[in-house]
Amino acid sequence: MRHQLATDDMEPTHHAELERLGRADAPAIRALYMGLGDSSRTLRFGVPMPCLDDRVLRPLCDVDDDRHVAVGARMDGTLIGIAHRIRSPLDALLHDVAFVVADPYQRRGIGSLLFDRIALEAVSDGIVRLGFHISGENRAMARLLARKGVCLRYRGGSGEGVWSPRAAPSGHRPESVMAPPSSPATSAWVGAA
Ligand SMILES: CC(C)(COP(=O)(O)OP(=O)(O)OC[C@H]1O[C@@H](n2cnc3c(N)ncnc32)[C@H](O)[C@@H]1OP(=O)(O)O)[C@@H](O)C(=O)NCCC(=O)NCCS
Repeated sequence: MRHQLATDDMEPTHHAELERLGRADAPAIRALYMGLGDSSRTLRFGVPMPCLDDRVLRPLCDVDDDRHVAVGARMDGTLIGIAHRIRSPLDALLHDVAFVVADPYQRRGIGSLLFDRIALEAVSDGIVRLGFHISGENRAMARLLARKGVCLRYRGGSGEGVWSPRAAPSGHRPESVMAPPSSPATSAWVGAA
């Protein structure tokens, strides 16, 4: 599916394409994470990550379309964003979710597109709740989640929230949206657990 991005400074020919990722996408996933700036790394993992070694990267690439589902956003063939959802070890109907968008492409609506897509697919796969665990300083993610109807609870410098189809604002359809939290320690490390 192709999505035209609402942006002031990109040619209208630039489209983001969303698709499920698989193990063959491991090199692109690694390249996306390795290209992140310090601030994005810190927000993604909840702690400063000056070095992304194999212990961190390998699980992020270990996509199996069951326990770990990943949706990617590509621009002109390059992976520029990814949303991971990983089955909670405590609840088979809950997936923990984490996103990342390459620095030059942030604030262009890609995170919101990824949310919509991963929520839509989760519902279609029978997953009824999506869990989010974010740093208390992550204003972008907090804003994105608020838009999608996720209510975050803050404690100890981090926020947690859960999305379900019921959480979506009225008139908000998964086709145009996304979603949620719970097992506290896992969301910020989705893919690295
Ligand atoms: C969080 C992240 C995925 C959002 O992706 P994105 O493509 O920039 O998001 P969007 O463009 O769809 O914007 C979503 C909302 O966040 C807001 N936003 C984006 N970046 C922001 C920033 N730096 N400060 C404040 N708000 C910001 C947007 O204005 C938008 O809100 P609006 O619809 O009310 O205007 C991206 O910023 C990112 O990869 N950050 C680093 C990694 C990270 O924090 N991952 C989340 C861990 S779960």
